[in-house]
Amino acid sequence: MTRVLSGMQPSGALHLGNWKGALENWVRLQEQYESYFMVADWHALTSRYHDTRDIPELIRAMVVDWLAGGLDPRRAIIFVQSAVPHHAELHLLFSMVTPLGWLERVPSYKEKLRELAHRDIHTYGFLGYPVLQAADIAIYRAELVPVGQDQVPHVELTREIVRRFNSIYGPVLAEPDALLTEAKVLPGLDGKKMSKSYGNTIGLGDSAEEVADKIRTMVTDPARIRRSDPGHPEICPVFHLHQVFTPAAERLDIGERCRRAEIGCVQCKSRLAATLNADLAPVRERRAFWSHRPREVDEILVQGAERAAVDAEETMARVRAAAHLQAGRR
Ligand code: TRP
Ligand code: SF4
Repeated sequence: MTRVLSGMQPSGALHLGNWKGALENWVRLQEQYESYFMVADWHALTSRYHDTRDIPELIRAMVVDWLAGGLDPRRAIIFVQSAVPHHAELHLLFSMVTPLGWLERVPSYKEKLRELAHRDIHTYGFLGYPVLQAADIAIYRAELVPVGQDQVPHVELTREIVRRFNSIYGPVLAEPDALLTEAKVLPGLDGKKMSKSYGNTIGLGDSAEEVADKIRTMVTDPARIRRSDPGHPEICPVFHLHQVFTPAAERLDIGERCRRAEIGCVQCKSRLAATLNADLAPVRERRAFWSHRPREVDEILVQGAERAAVDAEETMARVRAAAHLQAGRR
């Protein structure tokens, strides 16, 4: 069966953007593929090595939301990167064969350096971020990597590293393909991209009342000041959420009526809250279940890491042999 691997950095509780942008896709993929879903906690250290105290908490909260969103530990292997040390071993070997120029050319590298100028990330680990990601993928010989557009260069680099590795040591590793997730960027409450760092999110764990309250505060078409002003749904963040969550017929009707000033923003928003809350109901139910079972969640991660380590060890045994390295006792 085709193997799929993807990961997220531990960011704590998830919001609607994470759900529609990645998680929902993972939930679909687990039905069809042998799936590995990983919390990339080592990757988090590349930009925040100085303060790791809250990482366990962020991991747990995120994994609860993975389960709430519908990831199923009976179908997918769910684990934390640092629980499978093989990733680090392969990362080390990859670091030997990866030319510096390849890393300096990765678009996210210079961007992030600029963006995070206030943190000291002029480090070896930060430059090697995509090398570690390449190891995450190659260690399971994953064939498909579901990611958003921003991560495609990392998958491309993985292919290059794997190709170089295989050309030096022999054909041990598989070149993966990116499985591009259809870009679904959700607007936040202020109309900017929904993102934790903007504080404009609707959380997967928000109650129905919180969701309705937050939507009531959302910005709308700024030209629509009075109820009698015709609106422009195409520039309205509330409508952009309707486009993601509201069935086509109802959404078209709302758009038309907004244009003709036949529906007010208050009513439009309460319809959005209703569809959203209907969609979130099963998520909330699963979330309530798992958030009260922290020990079971930890156990899922332990078992996931055990499964993952078996596969990773198999790959590393071949890699060590090919590169004439010691296996030691394991
Ligand atoms: N870099 C990815 C992100 O920030 C997370 C990640 C780490 C990942 N390792 C991976 C994604 C391997 C896919 C495959 O989103
Ligand atoms: Fe936006 Fe809806 Fe108001 Fe139109 S009616 S401006 S789509 S909130």
